[in-house]
Amino acid sequence: MKCFSNKIVFVCFSLVLTLTLCNHENSATTTCRLWSARRIIATFTVTGGADKIKDSCPRNSTEKKTIEIRGTIKTLYEDSVKNITNLFKIDLVKVGLEKIQPGTFKDLSPLMDLIIQENKLKTLKTGTFVNLNVSFLSLRRNFISVLQPGVFQNLSLYQLALEENRLTKIAKGVFQDVSLTRLSLDQNGISRLEPGVFASLHPKNEEGISLSLSDNKIERLDPQVFDNKDIDHVNLGNNSISILHPGDLNNLPNLTRLNLTRNRLKEVPEGVFNASKIVILDLSHNQISVIANGALDGMKGLWYIRIHHNQLKEWDSRWFRGLSMIKIFASNNYIETIPEGSFVEVQEYTAVDLAHNQIRNISDGAFAGLKRLRSLDLSYNKIRKWKIEFLEKVMIQENVDLRGNNISCSEIESGIQQLRNQGFIFDKC
Ligand SMILES: *[C@@H]1O[C@H](CO)[C@@H](O)[C@H](O)[C@H]1NC(C)=O
Ligand SMILES: *[C@@H]1O[C@H](CO)[C@@H](O)[C@H](O)[C@H]1NC(C)=O
Ligand SMILES: *[C@@H]1O[C@H](CO)[C@@H](O)[C@H](O)[C@H]1NC(C)=O
Ligand SMILES: *[C@@H]1O[C@H](CO)[C@@H](O)[C@H](O)[C@H]1NC(C)=O
Ligand SMILES: *[C@@H]1O[C@H](CO)[C@@H](O)[C@H](O)[C@H]1NC(C)=O
Ligand SMILES: *[C@@H]1O[C@H](CO)[C@@H](O)[C@H](O)[C@H]1NC(C)=O
Ligand SMILES: *[C@@H]1O[C@H](CO)[C@@H](O)[C@H](O)[C@H]1NC(C)=O
Ligand SMILES: *[C@@H]1O[C@H](CO)[C@@H](O)[C@H](O)[C@H]1NC(C)=O
Ligand SMILES: *[C@@H]1O[C@H](CO)[C@@H](O)[C@H](O)[C@H]1NC(C)=O
Ligand SMILES: *[C@@H]1O[C@H](CO)[C@@H](O)[C@H](O)[C@H]1NC(C)=O
Repeated sequence: MKCFSNKIVFVCFSLVLTLTLCNHENSATTTCRLWSARRIIATFTVTGGADKIKDSCPRNSTEKKTIEIRGTIKTLYEDSVKNITNLFKIDLVKVGLEKIQPGTFKDLSPLMDLIIQENKLKTLKTGTFVNLNVSFLSLRRNFISVLQPGVFQNLSLYQLALEENRLTKIAKGVFQDVSLTRLSLDQNGISRLEPGVFASLHPKNEEGISLSLSDNKIERLDPQVFDNKDIDHVNLGNNSISILHPGDLNNLPNLTRLNLTRNRLKEVPEGVFNASKIVILDLSHNQISVIANGALDGMKGLWYIRIHHNQLKEWDSRWFRGLSMIKIFASNNYIETIPEGSFVEVQEYTAVDLAHNQIRNISDGAFAGLKRLRSLDLSYNKIRKWKIEFLEKVMIQENVDLRGNNISCSEIESGIQQLRNQGFIFDKC
C-alpha cells in the first residue's frame, strides 16, 4: 500500500485515518509493552507510528521501565522516545526498522540496554548513538554496511554488538571516543580496516578491551590497524590471514589472548609472538607445517596453545623452552615420532593432546624429565609398542589415553592393572 505520491498529497491529507494505517503496512498492530521487574505492567497500542511511542507510555510512573515494541516501526524519529521517565531498556527486535534519526536516544538516562537487532538498518548516521552511558547496545543481524564517522561518539558501554551485518570496511572515526569492554564485529564481510580504527577505543573499566572479528575477510594482522594498548583479547578466527610478519603485534602490548583459528597460516615465524604477553593462543585449523626455532621464545605467560588440525610433521622439544607450564593441543597433525627428550624443556605439562597423528615410534627417553602430567592423549595413532617404563617416573594426575592404537596386549599384560590404576585407557586388553 502506497500512500505518499506527490500528485495526490491533497487526497492523503484528507485521509488522516488511512495515513495512520500506512505507517503499519503489514497491518499487524504495533504494540508497546511495558515491563518492570520481569512483569508486563501495561500494553499499549502504538497508533500513529514510532513518533507516538512516548505518548503511549505513562509518564508519571516511577518504576524502571522496559519498552518492548512488537509490530512494525520503520523509522525512529528524534522525539519517538523522548522524555519517557525511568526508561531502562528499549527492545526493538524484528520490527522492520529501517532508519534511526540522530538524536533519538538523547538524554535517556538511566537507559541501560538498547536492543535493536534483527531489523533492516543499512546506514547508521553520524550522531546516532552519541554521549550515551549504557550497558549493552545490540545492532546484530541488520543489513548495516555503512557506519558514518562519529556514529558512536562518546559512547560508553560494556558491549557493542554489530555481528551479522554487511560491513566490508570500517573507517577511522567510527569508534571515536568509545569506551567499552567488548566490541563484536563477527560475521560481517570486513576486509578493510582503516589504520587507527581501533586506536580511539578506551576501556570501560580495568578489564581491558576484547575485540572479536571472527568470520570476516581480513588478510593481515596489520599493526597500524591493531593498535591499542588496552586491547587484551583479539579473535580473528575464520579470516584469510596467510602470513604473519615480525612486529605484527607490536602495537598490542597488552594482548593476552589471540585466536587465529581457521586462517591460512603455513608458518609461525620468529619475531611475531616471542616478546608478547600472550597467555592463550589458538592457531588451530591452519596449514602450519613449520614453527620457526625461537618463534615462541620469551612468551613468559603462555600456558595454553591450540595447534591442532595443522600439518606439523615433527614434535620439537624446543618450541616451548623457557616455559614453566603448558597445555598443548596438537591433535590431527602428521607427527610421526616422539623423539628422545621431547618434554625436557618445560617444567610441567598439564595436558598434552597428540591424538590423531601418525605416531608409530616412541623413543625410550621420550618422556624423560617430565615430572608431572595431568593428561596425555595418544589415541588414534599407530603405536604398536608401549613400554611400561615410558611413564614410570611421571606423576599422572588424570589419564593417558592409548585407544585406537595397535598395541599388543600380551606385552603389557603384566603391568596392566598397575597402568589402569594410573589412569590409562586402552580400547582392548
Ligand atoms: C498516572 O497517570 C494516569 C493517567 O495518565 C493515571 O490514570 C494514573 O493514576 C497515574 N498514576 C500515578 C501513580 O500517578
Ligand atoms: C521533553 O520535556 C521537556 C521539558 O520537560 C520539554 O520542553 C520538551 O518539549 C519535551 N519534549 C518532547 C518531545 O515531549
Ligand atoms: C560524554 O557523555 C557523557 C554521558 O555519558 C556526558 O556526561 C559527557 O558530557 C559527554 N562528553 C562530551 C565531551 O560530550
Ligand atoms: C555511567 O553510568 C554508570 C552507572 O551505570 C556510572 O557509574 C558512571 O559514572 C556513568 N559515567 C558517566 C560518564 O556518566
Ligand atoms: C567461516 O566464515 C564464513 C563466512 O565468512 C562462513 O560461511 C563459515 O560457515 C565460517 N566457518 C566456520 C567454521 O565457522
Ligand atoms: C598496557 O601496557 C602499557 C605499557 O605498554 C602499560 O603502561 C599499561 O598500564 C598497560 N595497560 C593495561 C590495561 O594493562
Ligand atoms: C577461537 O575461536 C573459535 C570460534 O571462532 C572458538 O571455537 C575457539 O574456542 C576459540 N579458541 C579459544 C582458545 O578460545
Ligand atoms: C624475538 O625475535 C626477534 C626477531 O627475531 C628478536 O630480535 C628478539 O630478540 C626475540 N625476542 C625474544 C624475547 O626472544
Ligand atoms: C624408531 O625410530 C628409530 C630412529 O628414529 C629407528 O631406528 C627405528 O627403526 C624406529 N622404529 C620403528 C618401529 O619404526
Ligand atoms: C596390528 O599389529 C599386528 C602385529 O602386532 C599386525 O599383524 C596387524 O596387521 C596390525 N594391525 C593393523 C591394523 O595395523
